[in-house]
Amino acid sequence: MSESEPNPIADLTPRQAKAEHKRLAAQVEAADIAYHQNDAPTLDDASYDALRRRLVALEEAVPELKAGSVSGKVGARPAGKFAKIRHRVPMLSLDNAFSDEAVAEFVQRVHRFLGRKDDEPIAFTAEPKIDGLSLSLRYEKGALVHAATRGDGEEGEDVTVNARTIAEIPKTLAGPDVPEVAEVRGEVYLGHADFAGINERQREKGLTEFANPRNAAAGSLRQLDASITASRPLRFFAYAWGEMPVLPAQTQFGVVEAFGRWGFRTNPLMARCETVEALLERYRLIESRRASLGYDIDGVVYKVDDLALQARLGFVSRAPRWAIAHKFPAELATTVLEAIEIQVGRTGALSPVARLRPVTVGGVVVTNATLHNEDYIRGFDSKGERIREGEPPDIRVGDTVTVKRAGDVIPRVAAVDLDKRPADAKPYVFPTLCPACQSHATREMNPRSGKEDAVRRCTGGLICPAQAVERLKHFVSRDALDIDGLGDKQIEFFHADPDLPVKEPADIFTLAERDGANLKKLKDKEGFGAQSVAKLFAAIEDRRTPPLNRFIFGLGIRHIGETNARLLARHYGSFEAIRSAGVAATDEASPERQELDSIDGVGPTVVEALTQFFGEPHNQELLDRLLAQVTPQPLEAVASASPVAGKIVVFTGALERMTRDEAKAMAERLGAKVAGSVSSKTDLLVAGPGAGSKLKDAAKHGVEVIDEAGWFDLVAT
Ligand code: IVH
Repeated sequence: MSESEPNPIADLTPRQAKAEHKRLAAQVEAADIAYHQNDAPTLDDASYDALRRRLVALEEAVPELKAGSVSGKVGARPAGKFAKIRHRVPMLSLDNAFSDEAVAEFVQRVHRFLGRKDDEPIAFTAEPKIDGLSLSLRYEKGALVHAATRGDGEEGEDVTVNARTIAEIPKTLAGPDVPEVAEVRGEVYLGHADFAGINERQREKGLTEFANPRNAAAGSLRQLDASITASRPLRFFAYAWGEMPVLPAQTQFGVVEAFGRWGFRTNPLMARCETVEALLERYRLIESRRASLGYDIDGVVYKVDDLALQARLGFVSRAPRWAIAHKFPAELATTVLEAIEIQVGRTGALSPVARLRPVTVGGVVVTNATLHNEDYIRGFDSKGERIREGEPPDIRVGDTVTVKRAGDVIPRVAAVDLDKRPADAKPYVFPTLCPACQSHATREMNPRSGKEDAVRRCTGGLICPAQAVERLKHFVSRDALDIDGLGDKQIEFFHADPDLPVKEPADIFTLAERDGANLKKLKDKEGFGAQSVAKLFAAIEDRRTPPLNRFIFGLGIRHIGETNARLLARHYGSFEAIRSAGVAATDEASPERQELDSIDGVGPTVVEALTQFFGEPHNQELLDRLLAQVTPQPLEAVASASPVAGKIVVFTGALERMTRDEAKAMAERLGAKVAGSVSSKTDLLVAGPGAGSKLKDAAKHGVEVIDEAGWFDLVAT
């Protein structure tokens, strides 16, 4: 059989087909590695496509060849190939609202924060939330110099070359009001028709199709070969900005209008609204146009229009207080529940997961969905009330169920069709032993409500392998240490690997050294290769000096999420300080405990969890081993030049020019720590009229006291 003229497939015996398939698969795989990992293609596109087509044709003739074949693998770009760009202004995400009430609450929160009465109108913009991927474009003197993806919000990928191929992204900006430096942000997306065209071509080439326009847009933008990006009709809407020292307008609406003048496309459905009713009316209008827009949107974004008010409102964690995404309702589909599996989480929570007969919900194939907890399966909520109609109200294996999916949220099993319940379906018995370590799994009593917790937890703690694996996954995850190439799969591999076991975080950092001393080299194991191992070790090395907040978050201490981790990092400055405070604070009468209690935003549950964590000798040993490997870096001081940077400030009494929330946010923006009570550590008490016991405490501890006007004088730049 000659290479140039392959035999008609119908003439091949199954053995011949198999042999040819094996040979072609090896060629495709080698070409994939050359192209994607080594950046050095060995085949031109046409030959590669021909190889793939033949491979797929063989698989169609002999279907068993499909199993595990390279044809099913997406030629995905391995992570870490683009240069990184640090965003000078972080790229934030948005909080979500799923109901009209939640929108009304958002508007009320904005009023309250700004100290406005409910009937004093505040203007908002309302615009479609485009379902694509966000991109930050930096222009200097009107010329496009950089394009970066969002990444983790702080650092994205440099896709400048790719962005330049997008027709709707201007290479130069025109207009008298274009600032010296302008970072314009917006959404890259694909229209429905163009998406269908791309998938058709993927199909023709025997390549995997994209699940939805957003994935296709992301796959098209993040191409090492920018000519592929150029061949995909990507589009762009501008709706936000990063660094822009001189703004072309004082309102959200005005700045976006300026973007239009400078040469960007902006969304024509954006409007300015002054009341909740007007916002909701705009939402319904946009929703009614959704099907005919020709591109995917997944909700409506509301933003405070006045930029001075936006600045006062600021941010919480990673989302602005001045904006919210009102998401469209979930999408539904019906399928069969084939099994219920129990997953053990990082804190020992037993979570029931529904294994479903595959079904498409809103363009995405769903095979798993959450069943929340055992009461949910039985059909009751936390108050013991029924959560679904029908008698009996429970969910059983074999049931025909409705699956709901809203945006990126994990799909969930919502309702059961009792008419379709098989006669032999039995009620599900929730395990009371941990499936991973056989320890008892119990439902704790909530001391405050006096009720049983909805979650059943494994009591195995440190002996439970499932919890250990989940803790490791959390430690390396994107918002924690963020180690490239060390995902869930790899953690599971190393945890179980007899040659290079990773049982706790410190083990990750000794991998390279242990591999060097080992005969059974990692590079010779299935799924690895010399290059991927070298990359992995480099990525691990790169994380020996993690930011303090990420390190604390990564430890997976119960109730310490990103926000609390950041608070602690800001307050204590170093890990050693947090650790010694945590240990000393186990004594409830200690000054360290008082200080911990006084940190604004850190509640009793968090204090309890922290002291428990640091009070556990095993955790101390684990930390010793880990800190021998890594050195957490203190947070860059926020506005360290401000006169209150690093100071501990307490506000008390009535404030007139700002609300209490606003005062706190302002102080934090200036690098101060805000405490709820006055102690000897307090640097400053800002007291308005009506201040009481805190004034006395300040006198007792010799703390400086100023009034609100004094505060504004102090922080005035
Ligand atoms: S504003 C500080 N406006 O939604 C706020 N975001 O969930 C910055 N998105 O990462 C975002 N359409 O990718 C904004 N009209 C719109 C949007 C929009 C889509 C995306 C964006 C962002 C995500 C947040």
